[in-house]
Amino acid sequence: MRHLTSLLELTAEEIDEVLGLASSLKESAVEGVRPSRLAGRVLTQIFEKPSLRTRASFDAAMAHLGGSSQFFSAKDAGLGGRESVEDVARVISGYSDVLVLRTFSQTMIERFAEMASCPVINALSDDRHPCQALTDLLTIRETCGTLAGRRLVFVGDGNNVARSLAIACGRMGVSMTLAAPKGYEFDEEFLGLLAREVPGHDVTIESDPVAAVATADVIYTDVWASMGQESEKSEREAAFSGYQVDGALLSQAPEGCCFMHDLPARRGLEVSDEVIDGPQSVVFQQAENRMHLAKGLLVWLLGD
Ligand code: CP
Ligand code: NVA
Repeated sequence: MRHLTSLLELTAEEIDEVLGLASSLKESAVEGVRPSRLAGRVLTQIFEKPSLRTRASFDAAMAHLGGSSQFFSAKDAGLGGRESVEDVARVISGYSDVLVLRTFSQTMIERFAEMASCPVINALSDDRHPCQALTDLLTIRETCGTLAGRRLVFVGDGNNVARSLAIACGRMGVSMTLAAPKGYEFDEEFLGLLAREVPGHDVTIESDPVAAVATADVIYTDVWASMGQESEKSEREAAFSGYQVDGALLSQAPEGCCFMHDLPARRGLEVSDEVIDGPQSVVFQQAENRMHLAKGLLVWLLGD
């Protein structure tokens, strides 16, 4: 049995298998074919934070594959309140074939996985967002044709999305530059982990966004204040002024460069309308791909 609490758990070959399954299930879906690969299987989602894409894409993925899904807010499930995380994990995994968890703490997902009798998927924690990063690899491969040798420039906070992208890019031979203001880059602990667990990665940090995008195949951004950081909003908006992905910044990148964002976007802050709605933006293809990736991942974890 495998879990996906962090992308560090997958090798490059395994990531390639998941992406291959996602692509072929996407092709079938486009032709109107939805093979019932997970008939009778039950997916349970438990979320401590709000979600549109993740929750809806896992529900839709399970329906496409002939299975069913159920959702609990963490409060309703009593996660860590009414009973211990470990007891919830043991009980709910007895009713489920796969569990999808969105939490504040990464440790909670790891504790859950430790006790669960079925695979546990991280649907975002403060530290990681592996399903998003896998989807982003799929979208980059569709848009650029290949992964190895491409360069992704993440303009913004060294947050959960950026960290999972760094692992994903490192595994698949994609160079990544994080363009972030001082104090919002990857910390030493994460850089040490990358060096140990993803040897050969090409992840660099650059404070000047204009210099960073000069050789970008992809410019990526995310919110400046993540869920749970609402009280830091003003301070972060001040720190990140000058880091908006707008037309002027995009014009400094090579012509064929595409724009990505995991969404939801704070339009007018980390990205301008002109860029997110412009011809180089692939954000809605990327959002749709969350469902195709979820299907590929579920079949990889549970399929015959
Ligand atoms: N990108 C993403 O995970 O979106 P949600 O928070 O809406 O699930
Ligand atoms: N970094 C964002 C991603 C939302 C999908 C957050 O954690 O809120």
